[in-house]
Amino acid sequence: MTNRRSFLEFLAASPLLAGLPAADVLAQATSLKNATDALDVFDFEAMARRLLPPAHWGYLSTGVEGDVTLKANSTAYSRYQLRTRRFVDVSRIDMAMHLFGESFNSPIVLAPVSSQGAFHPEGEVASARAAKNRNQLQLFSTQATRSIEDVSKARGKPVWFQLYTSDSFAVTTRLLQRAEAAGCPVVAITVDLPAGRNTVTLSRLMREDARPCAACHGTGGPSGNGNIVATKPMFAGIETQGVRMQSASLTWDFIKRVKDVTKMKVMIKGLESGEDAALAVEHGADGIVVSNHGGRATETGRATLESLPEVVRAVGGRIPVLVDGGVRRGTDAFKALALGANAVCIGRAYIWGLASFGEQGVDRVLEMLNTELRLAMAGCGTRSLEEITPAALIDARAG
Ligand SMILES: Cc1cc2nc3c(=O)[nH]c(=O)nc-3n(C[C@H](O)[C@H](O)[C@H](O)COP(=O)(O)O)c2cc1C
Repeated sequence: MTNRRSFLEFLAASPLLAGLPAADVLAQATSLKNATDALDVFDFEAMARRLLPPAHWGYLSTGVEGDVTLKANSTAYSRYQLRTRRFVDVSRIDMAMHLFGESFNSPIVLAPVSSQGAFHPEGEVASARAAKNRNQLQLFSTQATRSIEDVSKARGKPVWFQLYTSDSFAVTTRLLQRAEAAGCPVVAITVDLPAGRNTVTLSRLMREDARPCAACHGTGGPSGNGNIVATKPMFAGIETQGVRMQSASLTWDFIKRVKDVTKMKVMIKGLESGEDAALAVEHGADGIVVSNHGGRATETGRATLESLPEVVRAVGGRIPVLVDGGVRRGTDAFKALALGANAVCIGRAYIWGLASFGEQGVDRVLEMLNTELRLAMAGCGTRSLEEITPAALIDARAG
């Protein structure tokens, strides 16, 4: 058995436990009383799966089509092993991360995850309180269920804004103006969903959910005819009638158009190739997030950890490079940092904590990942983020 979760799944399938639904066995075996009882993020995954209604669990866990990219993201981390070093004084480890003039306690970042109200009533506000408590960077989704002002207040300072584009630049401008007025210093434009996606796992789980979506979502719900995106607080007061929340026709000049209407630093989220990274720098991007949307965009794509080195090479240190996708351990974060990332974003991992215990769950996820990262740094004799280099990794494929 590779880990505790696979063992529990094995148990759940045992004929000795026949009669009990597998998910129940898993849930009973993994129920936590307090967030601090969790030993790793997979404890929260099991709990979130038990607590969330099927459709919401489906929304969180889905990839696209056969979920191949989704799985590739996390398995890519097993390609590398850590190369330990001894007799280095690691009694003081500095994990501080500095980005665009702000300092954070560690390079673990909360990725923008939409609709957090579907996972916990306090949604993004609970995540923000945890991010404040641990002084971690938080990115706020265009599709958040709480307002950017409330979330920034809970965070104790402005969060960074993630922008979804549409076919209306007037709408884009209004969103940017609101984020800027809320004090956001940085916008990350997500570009990995130019023309929709095919979330098969979500569709399957929606069929298992007896509750009518419209009861909560109205006609804007997933099975309604309305525009679910435009019902989110970020769109309050913005005319979205007839606006398509997709933008298949965007080209690189979009970065300049955005820069012309905002003072925020502009990052591009969703690049995976060296060519695109070079073009991003050429067109004035201030930073890149190597991302495939957690395997929720293009199917049978490459793991982001595999894409990272060519992006880092193309950028050549001119702008910061962040990465996300499949990060479940501090050692995963360490490996991404060693391959050149300036910071590492987590998505599902903190939402598992949020769904389980709200703020306390997100706090515990951050605490566990930070502890694991610190241990990896100590084991490899790396006392600061700058000291984490490719020399700290062994590539199992290199033979
Ligand atoms: C439920 C869910 C909602 C997401 N919503 C957004 C979003 O609103 N904007 C965005 O740029 N990315 C969104 N993402 C992608 C994340 O920002 C991030 O790229 C991804 O979750 C990283 O992979 P991981 O979940 O394996 O850590 C979402 C991901 C999930 C799982």
